[in-house]
Amino acid sequence: MYRIGQPELDALRAVIDSKKLFRSGDPAAGHQQAVIAFEREWAATIGTDYSLCLSGGGTAALVCALAALGIGPGDEVIVPAYTWMATACAVLNVGAIPVIAEIDETLALDPADVERKLSRHTRAIIPVYMVGRPANLAALQAIAAREKLFLVEDAAQGCGGSYRGQRLGSFGDIGCFSFNDFKILSCGEGGALVTRDRTLYDRARIYHDSLVGFKTFANDLSVPPFVGLQFRASEIMGAILRVQLTRLDGLLADLRRVGRRFDEALGDVLTLAPSNDPEGDCRVVVAYRFPSEASARDFATAPGVGGVLPIDTGRHVYANWDALLQRRASHHPDWDPLTHPKNLGLNSRYTPDLCPRTLDLLARTVYVFINPDWTEAEIAIRITALRDAAVRL
Ligand SMILES: Cc1ncc(COP(=O)(O)O)c(C=O)c1O
Repeated sequence: MYRIGQPELDALRAVIDSKKLFRSGDPAAGHQQAVIAFEREWAATIGTDYSLCLSGGGTAALVCALAALGIGPGDEVIVPAYTWMATACAVLNVGAIPVIAEIDETLALDPADVERKLSRHTRAIIPVYMVGRPANLAALQAIAAREKLFLVEDAAQGCGGSYRGQRLGSFGDIGCFSFNDFKILSCGEGGALVTRDRTLYDRARIYHDSLVGFKTFANDLSVPPFVGLQFRASEIMGAILRVQLTRLDGLLADLRRVGRRFDEALGDVLTLAPSNDPEGDCRVVVAYRFPSEASARDFATAPGVGGVLPIDTGRHVYANWDALLQRRASHHPDWDPLTHPKNLGLNSRYTPDLCPRTLDLLARTVYVFINPDWTEAEIAIRITALRDAAVRL
């Protein structure tokens, strides 16, 4: 639901006119420093010290985060059963084992199930903020601190959201964001990670540019380089994202304003899915909870409602992670974390019935996606449609 237009075009023009698209270059020679500036601004927005912009999207941010933390074979990482499959894939990509845990009624990682899934192999927990809804970070932070685990936030869908007044992405060791086409901010494809830890930042920088050959960009590493991948952001991305960032708070304010209109008008006939922080929720959607899947479906498909059941959203639901369920976790059988000797005793049980509570909650929830640019008249039409559908149930 990002907004985009002339200001992004103007910023792009400046970069193209400079004829310098690579992220590092000499400002005296006209280089725009767009990626560096965006990283500084993004870290300041989220409330961290460092940010790294990545061409490989939220997936690259997660992979670089896990690599920076030194997670690999022999490690379990707890991920929610409701997330884009990339969260689990990132864990597999560094050679570790994703352990799938239930969500709770807020649709985010259930701290009680995290407790049940802990083992002596657990190294990290990844809360995910689906449709911009915060997780129970107080409880998850407490578990991580008590068990000495890393907390990596998958804030791919939660850009700008907050929990108890603090921005999502700033609670864990590393926060990860996506700027792909479905996100609150977008440059088409791309992502970023944030951290307060200089060593983690440097390790992520090394992994995202394994040759660290560009000395003007990475001449101040505090740790020796090791082999990684290549996810460097371009000035094209940086230019668009800097403008996108200026839109963030206005966009969130409009999403929340429209969301509140729905809440005020429909509180007597519809039940909201509880939120860990209604104020900090990005309000990409209004999420309603129903007593049964049948009533959820009747409501979602009623005239003018345009509702979506999260259970129907494909690979956001662990039961549809076919590659994992069918244990194809790698491009090569000898490079497969599921059969790596150090992972053999770990919890790699992946069956469709693993998280029944998640399936039940997702099947009894309806999302109505919010358009931040709806006029009052358009909001009123939708509210009337939702009320009619609710009273007819
Ligand atoms: C929760 C979540 N995590 C990770 C990702 C991966 O982000 P990207 O597609 O930018 O790699 C997405 C993308 O949709 C996502 O929704």
